[in-house]
Amino acid sequence: MQNRIHSMLLGTGAAVPQKKLTNQDLEKIVDTNDQWIVERTGIKERHIIDGKTTNSDLAAEAALIALEDANLKPEDIDRIIVATVTGDFNFPSVACLVQDKIGAVNAAGFDVQAACSGFIFGLSIADGLICSGTAKNILVIGSEVLSKITDWKDRSTCVLFGDAAGAAVVGPANGDGRGILATFLKTDGRLADLLNMPGGGTKYPPEVSVKENLNNIKMQGPEVFKAAVTAMGDAAKHILSEADITSEEVDLLIPHQANKRIIDATARRVKLPSEKVYINLQNYGNTSAASIPVALNEARREGLLRAGDVCVLVAFGGGLTWGSAAIRI
Ligand code: ACO
Repeated sequence: MQNRIHSMLLGTGAAVPQKKLTNQDLEKIVDTNDQWIVERTGIKERHIIDGKTTNSDLAAEAALIALEDANLKPEDIDRIIVATVTGDFNFPSVACLVQDKIGAVNAAGFDVQAACSGFIFGLSIADGLICSGTAKNILVIGSEVLSKITDWKDRSTCVLFGDAAGAAVVGPANGDGRGILATFLKTDGRLADLLNMPGGGTKYPPEVSVKENLNNIKMQGPEVFKAAVTAMGDAAKHILSEADITSEEVDLLIPHQANKRIIDATARRVKLPSEKVYINLQNYGNTSAASIPVALNEARREGLLRAGDVCVLVAFGGGLTWGSAAIRI
């Protein structure tokens, strides 16, 4: 497979707000309890930003850590791709704000919107840009402040989400067999209504959005659950075949951290034992596009991914979107 490897991970970073919101804290806000949340999702706590911090602040912090890890300077970056559904503004993009905050004066930045699958979509674009010779060093960031679009009166969704940012620097592969082996992306817009935020765009004017409570996440949980189990399993199987690797060759599966039951079902589809599956959703909840880069960064820093190891990323989100990537670290 070596001849199709064009790009590799050069560094990773993450930024998570300090403030934690535990299941016990949520018991005081809505009619829920720790046991239900842990049994149905696996989540124990999530991090929530303060009133002043923005999405681009978190994204910039994660980006600087990833750059340091990659031993590169901001001016070495020529593309910034930010995956997010919770940008500071509708425009300008978070990527442009990050460019300014980190001083990446030679970069061009843009945002990608693929909900929880966004980081994998960004990674796939970065791989293509490097493959074509259009760009050399690319920052791919997944950054979300979901607490700002959470309906804190809706117990079926408010227990699920958290805020965080994760970043990766992607650059040209060095020919030693390490790098992005394959990526796989899929969407099904027919199921857009299962998971969305109707307000905030141009379809509903601001006054209608506020009056009808449309500026927050709406999710048909059980339907999304079923779609996620099928899509994540398919994406995991597909990437093994695309990258021409077997389950036994996978050292670590890093799935989107939405629900432990979905993750367990995905691992079963590709016959991976639990010790090869990275789970940190108990500490962060579902951080959408940030979930995979935050987990990837943690796994690397915990020594679970060493040079030459094979890592598979799998995600699923609103759109519906899903995708996967296989990387030899
Ligand atoms: N606390 C206590 N009870 C609750 C809570 C809560 N927080 N939320 C719902 N319930 C109740 C319901 O009211 C219902 O009660 P009833 O039987 O009396 O009517 C019961 O629990 C079961 O509700 P369901 O919605 O059927 O529960 P389910 O087992 O499906 O779990 C969950 C809900 C956790 C949301 C699950 O459906 C899920 O994880 N869905 C997928 C979410 C996901 O993966 N999203 C991915 C992408 S996210 C993105 O893109 C931003």
